Parts: sequence; C-alpha cells; structure tokens
Amino acid sequence: MAKLIIEGGHALKGQINLRGAKNAALPILAAAMLVPEPVRIGNCPRLTDVEHMVGLLKALGCRAEWAGEDLFIDAGSARTAELPEGLAGSIRSSVFLLGPLLGRFGAAEAPYPGGCDIGNRPVDLHLKGFRAMGVKVDEASGRIRCLGRPRGGAEIALEYPSVGATENLIMAACGAEGDTVLVNPAREPEIDDLMAFLNGAGFDMRREGSSRIRVRGGRRGRATAHAILPDRIEAGTYMVAAAITGGHLVIRGGRKEHLSAPLTALKEAGCRIRIEGGDLDIEGPERPRELRRLVTLPYPGFPTDMQSQMFALCTVARGTSVLEENVFEDRFRHGAELRRMGADCDLRGRTAVIRGVRSLHGATVTAHDLRGGAALALAGLRAEGITVVERAERIDRGYADFAATLRGVGAVIRREDD
Ligand code: EPZ
Repeated sequence: MAKLIIEGGHALKGQINLRGAKNAALPILAAAMLVPEPVRIGNCPRLTDVEHMVGLLKALGCRAEWAGEDLFIDAGSARTAELPEGLAGSIRSSVFLLGPLLGRFGAAEAPYPGGCDIGNRPVDLHLKGFRAMGVKVDEASGRIRCLGRPRGGAEIALEYPSVGATENLIMAACGAEGDTVLVNPAREPEIDDLMAFLNGAGFDMRREGSSRIRVRGGRRGRATAHAILPDRIEAGTYMVAAAITGGHLVIRGGRKEHLSAPLTALKEAGCRIRIEGGDLDIEGPERPRELRRLVTLPYPGFPTDMQSQMFALCTVARGTSVLEENVFEDRFRHGAELRRMGADCDLRGRTAVIRGVRSLHGATVTAHDLRGGAALALAGLRAEGITVVERAERIDRGYADFAATLRGVGAVIRREDD
C-alpha cells in the first residue's frame, strides 16, 4: 500500500504536460482484440488499470510490449475467449473485453465485474445489447457467458447513455455481418477516440447526429497506429490544483472543447483562464467563490469524474456550494474524509451542501477511489500543516506519477510505499 505525505500552503507554479486518457486507453486496448494484426497505441498512459488490461490481453494469447509510451499489441495469436478469474476480477474494465471477444470469436466469458467504491456498477445495459444482437447470454454462477456471433440489423436503444455499454456494443457490432445502430449512445470524447481507432483499423462506424451511432458490418481489422487523446480529467484535476492553492499553472496538450463544463465551473469559482491552442493557462484566486449549484451529468454535462475535485475546492470557498451527483449512487465518500480536515459539509443522498471554511487543517485521510483520493491530495495542498493520504495506490489507477507531477510545480509532497 502507498501513502502521500503533503505539506500544505504552497501555491503551485509551472507547466504540466498531459498524458493519454485512461478512459480511452482501456476500451482501445480491449478493441485491439478485434484486429488479428499488430497495432501501435501511442500516448498510452502507464497506469495500473492499463497494466492490468495488458495482462488480460496476454492471458488471452495476445503479444504486447511497451516502447516508452507506445504500446505494441498483436492479437493475431489470441486463442481463447475466456478471461481468467483472478486477473479479470481485479479491474472492472475487464468487462470491456466481452464485446471484442464476441466480435472476434463469437464467444466470451468473464467473471462478473466487481462493484467499487462509487456504486454497484451493473452491466445490465451491456448484456441487454448483446442479447439484442442475438447473442445468448448466461449469468449463472457469478460469471457472464456469451455465445453466438453478433447478428447485424439490430437497432439498440440504450435506456441510459452508458459509456461502457456504448463501447462494448460498438466493439461487438464490429463482428456482425450487417449494420448495427445504437440509439441514445454516450457522447463522451473517449468513445469518438475508440471509433477513430477502429475506423483506422479498417472498420466503419460513425455518429449520425447526437443520438445515433451506426456500425457497418462485414469488415475485418488490419494493422494500424493510433495516438490516445489527451486526458480531460487529468487536465481538470491539475487545474483544480492551481485553483485550490491560488497558484498559476499551464496545462499543456489539452483540448478545450472537451473541457467546457469544468472550465465554466472554474471561472465561476473565480479562476482566471486563458486558452492558447492546447495550452490551458489557469490562475487560482486567493480564495475561491462558491458554486451555487453544480450538477454532474453524462457528457457534455459536468463530468462525474471531476466531482470530487470540485468538492475539495468548494470546502474553502467564500460561501455555500451545492453539488449534485447524478451519475453514480455512492460518490461522496471523500466528504467524510474532508470533514476530518475541517470541511463543513452535509451529504444528503445525491446532494452535498458544502459551507466554505477559511482554512482546512492537515489530517490522516483515506483514498476510497481514484478521483476521491486525488481530491484529498488537492485539499492537502491547501490545508495548514501535514496531510497523509492513505491507500494512495488507488490514485495510481488514474494518474501516472501523481506526486512527482505535483512536486514538479512546487508542491511539497512525497510518496511512501509499504
Ligand atoms: C466510465 O464508467 C468510466 N470508466 C468512469 O470513469 C466514468 O465515471 C463513467 O464512464 C461515466 O463517465 C471507464 O471508462 C473505464 P457508465 P462506466 O456505464 O462505463 C449505470 C474514473 O474515475 N449503468 O456510463 O462504468 C452505472 O451504474 C471512472 O475514471 C447501469 O445501470 O460508466 C452508473 O450509475 C469512474 N447499467 C451510470 O450508469 C449498465 O449496464 C454510468 O455508468 C451500465 C451502467
């Protein structure tokens, strides 16, 4: 296990270069299973969840090797469609392999993905979509068994624009002979990055307006190279680091069009933001203003993956903020940890009421999930005294070199691994 030890009170200053997006890398690595030839995935972040996915691909018979931040995968040698219990259970995103395994082999088997600290994370929409493609899905004995090549011609209406279900169904549809249409698909940019990778590998899919995706059938994957898009949540997290410390950071390599909701919220909090090309230049206020109402929604609404970071910022705001978490049912566990640092907040179901305090004080707190853990570290950057964030290995799931990156722009932070 790991912990972060942070001395608060230092305004951050400097530049941070963004890495590739975790939530694009994971489905794209899974999609490599659809291509029986070598692919090169550039700008791939070396995160624990990514390393786990590489392990799963190797367990399925793929060859995979790193060259810096380029990952070479050859699924030509993949032989089995059954995910190993131990490894697949370790990350939720193993469920992303069901679609490509169905598309490639007409069969897929995986342990039921575990819930996590933000909710029970069902996969009913994924499985309902597979069944709509004529796949036989059996959920007995804690495993998911899928059998049958996805049939073309399905028009699948998603009751909720689930990111993972959209990605899984796109990948399964690559194995169908006829076209598949998804209605009400998710609109996150990471899905467009997945589609760009698959189109580059010889498949054919596109959005038809904002509420449909069409995947043409009958294509076969071929060798390709693709660079992962920059991580908008990493960008937002480090922007909050500037905001909460009253610092000045230039975040390089971002795409402002993927950050409009967080940028609007940070300006409301009193940040001065200049955007030049891919550079996001942000200066934090001496003390942030409250956010009267922040509501998380599917993209392009405010991203749930930025909720805990904004929660931390609101704890030291001038007034009272109200945050509504509409995407996951249990994503306020960082609230109780922030209270230990002196935050004044009430958690009422999916709503958090946060009365800003002039200062937080250091404490020993626990990271319950990757974004909540990052939020606690951000609060520690502001708090008076020393903050210790335990279970910091959970932050590694979404941020490469988190402590080193912050130290590089003036944070007094170190990491201890047990
Ligand atoms: C993806 O999770 C991301 N993970 C999450 O990022 C992100 O928070 C989420 O999308 C929303 O943007 C990856 O991409 C690896 P969903 P996913 O399916 O696919 C319910 C992070 O911090 N639902 O859009 O699981 C579900 O319970 C992580 O980087 C069903 O009910 O998100 C949730 O309440 C956390 N049935 C809501 O939909 C289903 O079959 C959103 O889930 C699927 C989902």
